[in-house]
Amino acid sequence: MNDASHRHWAKTTLPRPLGLLISLVGVVGALSCSESSGPSAAAAGAGTTPSSAGSSGSGGASSATSAGSAGAPSAGTGANASGGNPSGGTENVSAGSGGSLANPSETYPVPDAASLKDEDGSSLWLRYPKVPIPGRLAEYQAAFAQVVSAVDSPSIDAAEAELVQGLSGLTGNTVQVAAAVTGAGAVVLGTATSAAIKDLPLATRLAALGPEGYLVERAEVAGQMATVVAGNSEVGALYGAFALLRHLQMHQDLAQLSLSGSPKIKNRLLNHWDNLDGSVERGYAGKSIWGWGSLPGSASSAVFKSYARANASIGINGTVLTNVNANAQALTAAYIGKVKALADTLRPYGIKTYLTARFSAPRELGGLSTADPLDANVKKWWADKINEIYAQVPDFGGFLIKANSEGQPGPQDYNRTHADGANLFAEALNGRGIVLWRAFVYSDTSPPDRIKQAYEEFKPLDGKFNAGVLVQVKNGPLDFQPREPFHPLFGAMPKTPLALELQLTKEYLGEDTHLAYLGPLYEEVLKADTKLTAAGPTVARIIDGSAQNYAVTAISGVANIGNDTNWTGSHMNQANWYVFGRMAWNQDISAELVANEWVRQTFSNDPVVLEPVVKLMMQSREALVNYMTPLGLAHIMGSDHHYGPGPWINDLSRAEWNPVYYHKADAQGLGFNRTAQGSNAVAQYSSAVGQAYGTRATVPDELLLFFHHVGWQDKIASSNRSLWEELVYRYSHGVDEVGTMREAWATVKGRIDAKRFKSVDDFLTTQHYEARWWRDACLAYFGDVSKQAMPAGYAPLAKTLAEYKALTSQCPTDVTKPRCTPVYSGTPSPAVLP
Ligand code: GCU
Repeated sequence: MNDASHRHWAKTTLPRPLGLLISLVGVVGALSCSESSGPSAAAAGAGTTPSSAGSSGSGGASSATSAGSAGAPSAGTGANASGGNPSGGTENVSAGSGGSLANPSETYPVPDAASLKDEDGSSLWLRYPKVPIPGRLAEYQAAFAQVVSAVDSPSIDAAEAELVQGLSGLTGNTVQVAAAVTGAGAVVLGTATSAAIKDLPLATRLAALGPEGYLVERAEVAGQMATVVAGNSEVGALYGAFALLRHLQMHQDLAQLSLSGSPKIKNRLLNHWDNLDGSVERGYAGKSIWGWGSLPGSASSAVFKSYARANASIGINGTVLTNVNANAQALTAAYIGKVKALADTLRPYGIKTYLTARFSAPRELGGLSTADPLDANVKKWWADKINEIYAQVPDFGGFLIKANSEGQPGPQDYNRTHADGANLFAEALNGRGIVLWRAFVYSDTSPPDRIKQAYEEFKPLDGKFNAGVLVQVKNGPLDFQPREPFHPLFGAMPKTPLALELQLTKEYLGEDTHLAYLGPLYEEVLKADTKLTAAGPTVARIIDGSAQNYAVTAISGVANIGNDTNWTGSHMNQANWYVFGRMAWNQDISAELVANEWVRQTFSNDPVVLEPVVKLMMQSREALVNYMTPLGLAHIMGSDHHYGPGPWINDLSRAEWNPVYYHKADAQGLGFNRTAQGSNAVAQYSSAVGQAYGTRATVPDELLLFFHHVGWQDKIASSNRSLWEELVYRYSHGVDEVGTMREAWATVKGRIDAKRFKSVDDFLTTQHYEARWWRDACLAYFGDVSKQAMPAGYAPLAKTLAEYKALTSQCPTDVTKPRCTPVYSGTPSPAVLP
């Protein structure tokens, strides 16, 4: 490893840094199922329960729950998950209402070879296979024979095409398009003002649902019982069509069909870290899907339509096309032409395009001598550039900007503030689009505690950002770790709308290979309670605008998409795209309910598949935390690629590029002291949260070492083990959880297609070996520093510390598809001995 590994940035020069570092994690709210559809959601989960996450074993399990309570960030009430909520959004989800599960008397047949054709994953969750249970099939066949669209528009055409494809697939019949209801089995599609819908009782209820809202209900139209899919806008109707298809792909019944939805957060974006040369920063699914070289000519290619359909199906309505480590070339006329072509393809699906803006573009492209945001020529350059973009893309969404971080240029180069920089863009956009100004700042000098920097730079600027600017904040203060506390900026900048940035691509969580369903991670941060007042607010209520009354709101997910056939590098990573969209739409939906939706649509509704797969997904992230970074450890990954273990790394030129900076292991103990006696990072939180985190008795076990330096022999109250023993237990338990996940997956063999089964199975095998690698390497290192021996009852470490250190330099051989073959030796036996 070397510096470059972490980041090749050295002051402001490089256009595109490579790696970065740091991570830490935080906690939070247990997996309490907050969906108002709770009971039925649990039923829909086919037996999985919220406590299944991270559970099984005493230590690991209790941790997941204690994280929520002790750490202050407790889960939300869960009262209004799918019903009304304070910020106006609503959702009536399929499994929670308006339908019951498949008739229990109907058993799913064991699929025969013909119905188990190999699948490559390219259809994502929009597969629409014929319903295999006769009662439900007959119900759907009777209900869906024609699609009648009451309006002609690109979005309605897209909805109509989706309904025809989906309903034909699910029923096994050819569903027709008709100009008017001509008999039974019509789906009537339109807006609140379309002729066939405007006089229906539901039309008046639609108004309350906002511009993107939809209702799907049974109603009489032209003397026939029909299914009405109505939106306030044409895109709203498209969302309604997808909600209906989701309901049907989940084999729900049609009695009392009543689906409704409207999002609370206005801008729900994917952030692609795609470079113009086709590479994807932190991408593990092949090359960029944009294929810039072939645009604009390729804009109508099927891949973009499929991408748009997938996003619309989960409510994503914006896409940032380019990497935050931006290339000014994206703003040239040639690229604007390519963006226009893409925007035209994505628009019918309600998706706006955005770009990243390189702050120094006026110099690089415009030949100016400065990029000072207060310079009149610079202002004019951006105003002209932005007008040029709007002339081509009238609904251009705006800019995402990384400035003065990791070597990127920014306003501080001219002694200006982040607010000066962001306001320059807001002024030039003049209300046409938004500015997402990132708070992920990482300076050129080594700080005593790197996680404090964003708060220190941004909090003083609260109130100084113009309308149209949102400050985009990562979920935690470090960098997308398996677990971090929520970012202290949430709640600390009431005069500034904040957007939440989550990472879908699993840079620090096993990339494409390891199965880690991120729903529980997202749920933790959304439900984290800032405890600024007795009533919260939670992070969800801050970003949905309700806590501080903001109408312009946003959430971003760093995309995990590439040109691999299955889009995301592994079949299971598709779930992270799916859950991001579903939670961007509805911040109160539970991770478990979403896993349930996804498995039903992606693999099978049969409980013999649904139950084990939802369960293993729900335990996966906690298992990974345990075998990589238990108890609040963070950023102990190998340099640059962030894939395997590297807790011993200590030779990078800047202190905070090294894992030893983050875990602070020494002869006495382990962990980063961020209490008042340490870096005092806890002071960046509300006093209630800061006190909870800063006190040994109340900090959740999951964040213990993030906030405290703990003696090796100190007792962990929840388990009565010493820190060393608890560490050994958690690392070992995490490995064995992967073993459990493998066993669960093995049970679905023959129930899903062989191709996808094998692909997931192979990755799980790799994950099991690599979990063992993580455990053995980390315990070898921490045991060496602490001079502690492995306690009885655990499998011995497979190799010596020296061997693990040597492995790190060999693995991964290919940073885009890392597989550390040298660790694949032996049979992964239980790490906690029976
Ligand atoms: C991560 C990642 C970088 C990225 C940076 C960012 O740490 O390693 O590749 O550029 O964060 O979010 O800007």
